[in-house]
Amino acid sequence: MTLKGKRILLGLTGGIAAFKAAELVRSLAKAGCDVRVVMSEAACRFITPVTMQALSGQRVWTDLWDPGVPDNMAHIELSRDRDLIVVAPASADFMAKVARGLADDLLSTLVLARRCALLLAPAMNVEMWNNPATRRNVKRLRGDGVAIAGPAAGDQACGETGMGRMLEAREIVAEVEAFFQPRLLAGRHVLITAGPTVEPIDPVRAITNASSGKMGYAVARAANEAGASVTLVSGPTALEAPAGVRRISVRTAREMFDAVVKSVNDADVFVSVAAVADYRVVNPSAQKIKRGARKAMTLELTENPDILAHVAGLKKPPFCVGFAAESEKLAAHARQKRRRKGIPLLAANLAQEALGADDNALTLFDDAGEHSLGRSSKLEQARKLVAHIAAMLAKKKKR
Ligand code: CTP
Repeated sequence: MTLKGKRILLGLTGGIAAFKAAELVRSLAKAGCDVRVVMSEAACRFITPVTMQALSGQRVWTDLWDPGVPDNMAHIELSRDRDLIVVAPASADFMAKVARGLADDLLSTLVLARRCALLLAPAMNVEMWNNPATRRNVKRLRGDGVAIAGPAAGDQACGETGMGRMLEAREIVAEVEAFFQPRLLAGRHVLITAGPTVEPIDPVRAITNASSGKMGYAVARAANEAGASVTLVSGPTALEAPAGVRRISVRTAREMFDAVVKSVNDADVFVSVAAVADYRVVNPSAQKIKRGARKAMTLELTENPDILAHVAGLKKPPFCVGFAAESEKLAAHARQKRRRKGIPLLAANLAQEALGADDNALTLFDDAGEHSLGRSSKLEQARKLVAHIAAMLAKKKKR
C-alpha cells in the first residue's frame, strides 16, 4: 500500500498512447493516490479532458492562461503540494522541451517550476526514439535526475515496429511504486546470485535446470529500489538487468563461485537465489560426443562448491540469505537447510509453484520462527523480503 495518500500530478502530452493514461489514472486513483491531471493542447486531441476528469474525480487543467485561477499562478501552485509529477505519454517534443528547460504551455511550465521529482513515460515512433536528437535529450534528462520509464519495443500505432511504445498502465504504476519505496538499504552493498547454472557435457550439451531468474532479478530490483548498490551475479537468463544494477554474467557454478568471491568482501548482504548445479561433469568432451555404437553411457559427476555455505563460513560474512525450492515437506527441509548452511535467514517456496511463474508465495525462516509472505508478484515478495532483511539488520546493529 505504498501509494495510499500520495499526491501525483499526471501530465499528458500528444500521442496515441494517451488512451493508456485513462487506465493509468484509474489505477492510481484506485491505489489511493490523489491524482491531478494536466493536459497539453495536443493531448486533448487524442483523449478528452472530460474522460480524465471523470476518472480522476477532479477538474482537469489545460490552460496556462486560465482566468479561473485567482492569482494567475497555476503554473506554480498546481505542483507545489505534489509528491511526484508523472508525464505519460511523454512525446519526443515534450522531452526535448524539458531537456532544454522550455516553458511554453501549462505542463512544461509546471515541470520547469517543480520542486518534486519527475518521471517520464516516453511514447513515440521508433525513428523519433532512435533519432540522435532524442538520444541526446534522454541522456541529458537522465543527467538532470529525471526518471525515464520505458519505452518498450513492439508494434506501433503507425504500423512500424520497434522501441517507442509507452509502457502499459500497470508497468507505470510499478515504476511509481518503486519511486515511493522506503530507502531501507541506503548505503548498503547487496550481492545477489540468480538464474540457473549450465554445466557443459560437450560443446553443444549441458546439464542445467528450469530456473528463469525472475525471483533473483526481482530481489535485485527491490534492493535497488531500497537504495542499496546491487551486484547481480547471474547465470544465463532471458531477462534484462534491472536499471541501476551491476550484472556479472556467468555460466557454470564455478564461474559463479569466482564472481561471488571477487565481490563479496565489501558486501553487507548476500542473497543466494541462484539454482546452482550441485554437480558438474568431470571431463567435459572438447568435441561433440558422437552417437557411435554405444547403447548406453555414463557421465561421471563431481561436486560443485556450495557458494552460500562458503560465504556464510567466511571470517566476516555478510548477512546471508538463502533460498530453497522444495518439492515437498517445505518447512522441515527449510529449517534443516538453514541450520546446515549456517545462515540467519532462509526463504523457501514450492518449486512446482515458483519455477518460471510471475508470482510466488515465500515463507521466511529465521531464529524467530516462520513468516508467510502470502501470494503476490515476485516483485512484491522481493520487496517484503528486503523489508525483512532491513529489519533484521537494524536489530543486529542495536545488539
Ligand atoms: N547454493 C549455493 N551453491 C550450491 C548449491 C546451492 O550457493 N552449489 C545455494 C542456493 O543458491 C540456495 C541454497 O544454497 O540459496 C539452497 O539451495 P538448494 O539447491 O535448495 O540446496 P542444496 O544445498 O543443493 O540442497 P538439496 O539439493 O539437497 O535440496
